[in-house]
Amino acid sequence: MGHDFPDNQTSNRRDFLRWLAASPLLATIPGCAPRGASPGPLTGAAGQGVPAAEPPPTPRPTLDDLVTSAGDALDVFDMEKVAETAMPPAHFGYIQTGVDGESTQRNNREALERIHIRARRLVDVSRLDTRVTLFGREWPTPIMIAPCGSQRAFHPEGELATARAAQARNHLQTLSTVTSTAVEEVNEARGEPVWYQLYATSNWEVTQAVVERVRTAGCPVIVLTVDLPTGSNRLTGRRWSRIDDRTCTQCHRPRGRAPDIKPMYQGTVYSPRDYRTPGMTWDMIGRLRDITDQRILVKGIMTHEDAELALVNGVDGIWVSNHGGRAEGSGQATIDALPEITATVAGQVPVIVDGGFRRGTDIFKAIARGADAVAVGRPYLWGLGAFGQAGVERVLEILRNELAVTMRLAGTPSLASIVETSIGTE
Ligand code: FNR
Ligand code: LAC
Repeated sequence: MGHDFPDNQTSNRRDFLRWLAASPLLATIPGCAPRGASPGPLTGAAGQGVPAAEPPPTPRPTLDDLVTSAGDALDVFDMEKVAETAMPPAHFGYIQTGVDGESTQRNNREALERIHIRARRLVDVSRLDTRVTLFGREWPTPIMIAPCGSQRAFHPEGELATARAAQARNHLQTLSTVTSTAVEEVNEARGEPVWYQLYATSNWEVTQAVVERVRTAGCPVIVLTVDLPTGSNRLTGRRWSRIDDRTCTQCHRPRGRAPDIKPMYQGTVYSPRDYRTPGMTWDMIGRLRDITDQRILVKGIMTHEDAELALVNGVDGIWVSNHGGRAEGSGQATIDALPEITATVAGQVPVIVDGGFRRGTDIFKAIARGADAVAVGRPYLWGLGAFGQAGVERVLEILRNELAVTMRLAGTPSLASIVETSIGTE
């Protein structure tokens, strides 16, 4: 039978390889000795028939040894393993940390895994359309780069490497307020102005100066993060710091000294005590609206009540996020918060989501629940820590390829064809 043929072929090949491995012939083919194999029936140095001492066998490579360049990574978790060994423990711990016992971070993933895809058959998927338009700009993919601070702690080129990767692969990048590289340089590396994530600070004068600076730099969108008005309880990060004995003065000042002023606060009257915004309320949207014509998004929305308030206060877009499980320990997964929010927004403004998106199938599920775009945080930071720009590019490529495969196998050739019934939960 036709389908037997490849199996027969495989088993013939296997038999042949087994025979070859056992044969002294193999040792005579240059470069063909199997790892750990004896060098063959040689005689001792004096040529008197004394067997040569066997060299110790070369250890078999483990799966962890297989990723030595960015292109070797098969999924984003391969990148995570390399990043763990490539980076100082405290910095890797800073990426990994959630809060408390990490249940919010874990639930972001587990909730995604509880959803399945309802694959449809016999749909023409020979052409795929993954384009998305946000505020008049078309992107080839809904996969975005989430704002993450301090990227020079992960790789010497930091945000510049990320920006170059975003440019090479044409992804939308949002830059953090606590970037280790100034927005002007990042925009240049990106080849166009990025979106800018705003930590408003509790000093309006500082906020105004920062907004004016990024407006002048041409950033079309301000993403106001609202989920971290105070510090959060990041135990995992603290544990990783404890096993890091470096003084780390290359990245920041030693413990006990005042923190460095980040580039985006330089030239303003910023003081570290302004960083947190426990007094911030919804009127911040109107205040920002009064000083800038940029689009204003809110990042960190997790309920339909707040989505409603965001709309009432005139935002241009909503970013569903729990800060990757680094803010409140609510246990609420972003993919589970998404349906009530997209139902409330009902297409009035774009909805972006992040938190735990690691595979093309995850991104598909967010699109099915009504997100316009999906942002990733830790995956590209792992790529950055592991291989710099090449690592970020590879992560983006992996996710895009996975999304394309998912869409083909689900019978959904366009983002618009991924609908509520494309997924199920039972
Ligand atoms: C972040 N995130 C974040 N968010 C933000 O608004 N401003 C910031 O400066 C940072 N900084 C930051 C640093 C690091 C190391 C991480 C991991 C995250 C949150 C980020 O934008 C995003 O919401 C999450 O990372 C998304 O979750 P995943 O993809 O990391 O699971
Ligand atoms: C964090 C801040 C910088 O999540 O947003 O670490």
